[in-house]
Amino acid sequence: MTLLQVKDLGVRFSTHDGMVHAVNGVSFNLDRGQTLGIVGESGSGKSQSVLAMMGLLARNGNTSGEALYQDKNLLTMPAHELNRIRGNRLSMIFQDPMTSLNPYLTIERQMTEVLELHKGMDRKSAKKRAIELLDAVRIPDAKRRVDMYPHEFSGGMRQRVMIAMALLCEPEILIADEPTTALDVTVQAQILSLLKDLQRDFGTAIIMITHDLGVVAGLCDQVMVMYGGRVMEYADADHIFYQPSHPYTIGLLGALPRMDDAGEALTSIPGNPPNLANMPKGCPFYERCGHALDVCADTIPPLEATGERSQVLRACHVPVTQLSIQGQDKEALHV
Ligand SMILES: Nc1ncnc2c1ncn2[C@@H]1O[C@H](COP(=O)(O)OP(=O)(O)OP(=O)(O)O)[C@@H](O)[C@H]1O
Ligand SMILES: [Mg+2]
Repeated sequence: MTLLQVKDLGVRFSTHDGMVHAVNGVSFNLDRGQTLGIVGESGSGKSQSVLAMMGLLARNGNTSGEALYQDKNLLTMPAHELNRIRGNRLSMIFQDPMTSLNPYLTIERQMTEVLELHKGMDRKSAKKRAIELLDAVRIPDAKRRVDMYPHEFSGGMRQRVMIAMALLCEPEILIADEPTTALDVTVQAQILSLLKDLQRDFGTAIIMITHDLGVVAGLCDQVMVMYGGRVMEYADADHIFYQPSHPYTIGLLGALPRMDDAGEALTSIPGNPPNLANMPKGCPFYERCGHALDVCADTIPPLEATGERSQVLRACHVPVTQLSIQGQDKEALHV
C-alpha cells in the first residue's frame, strides 16, 4: 500500500544572489513498512526535499509539485491540517537532538505533552506510555530517567529519546535526517538496529537521509541518489550497490573503501557540486563526469527506466553499456 506519493517536487529559495533551485523534479513512492534511503553529497537537496513535505522550509522557500498523503497534498494543506498529521502520522528525527528537545523541560513533560495533545491521554497514562517507549528504545532504567532533563543524557541516549518521541503517536512514516551522523560508530550501529526492530514491530515506513552508504546498505530497501537538487538514480538497494547505472552513483561507490584493497587511499569524486543559484544548462554532474557526452553539456537527461530493468530509474544520457561499472559488496558495508 502506497502511503506517500511524491510527484515532481520542487523547492526554490529566493536570495540576493538570485533563485536557488534546491530541489527539482523529485518523485518517489513510499509503501507501508518500506525504507527509502536518500543519499548524496552535502547540498544535494536531501533535507529540503523532506522539510518541504513537513511544511518546515525557511521563509524564503517555495514549493511546487505534489506530496500526496491519503490523497491530500501536504504542500498546499492548511497549517492546522498539517499540524494534525505532523508529529502524529508523519514524524521526523533531526540530526542534532539538542535542537529538537526543550532543555528546560523534563523528558517526561515533553513526551506526555504530545500524548495529551494528539491522543487526548491523561497525564498518568501518558507517562506510562512514555516509559514504555523509552524502554523500547533501550534507555536503561527508563522509569527513573524519564524525570531527567535532556542535558543529563549522553548524545547517543538523547538520540534514542528523540526516536522515542518521534514514535509516540505510532507514526506511519518516520523521516530520519542523518540521525546517526553525530554519533560514534558503535552507538550508530545500535541506533540503526533499533530502527530496524521498531520498523518490524510497528510497520513504520522510514525515509532515511544520509551521506553514508554503509547506513543505506544496512537498512534501506530502495535508494534515491541525489545530486545538484535532482534525482540521478532511483532503484532497489541491491541494484544501486551491485549494478549501479549512473556515473555519479558509480563515483560514490568508488569513494568507499573496498574490502579487496585494504590500505589503499580512499578515492573521491574530483571537483565540486554545481552552484544552485546558477545551474548549468545540461546535466548537473556534467563537469565532474568521466563519461560525459556532448549532449550532456546542454540537455538535462530525464529520469527514465533503463532498458530491460524497468525498476531502475536513472537520469543519464550515457548508455549503460558504455559505463565501466564497479559495484560494491553490499553485505560487507553494513554499519
Ligand atoms: N533558506 C535558504 N535560502 C537559500 N538557499 C538555501 C536555504 N536553505 C537551503 N538552501 C540551499 O539548498 C540546497 C540544498 O540544501 P539541503 O539542506 O537540502 O542539502 P542536503 O543535501 O541536506 O545537504 P547536507 O548533507 O549538508 O545536509 C543547499 O545548497 C542549501 O544551501
Ligand atoms: Mg541535510
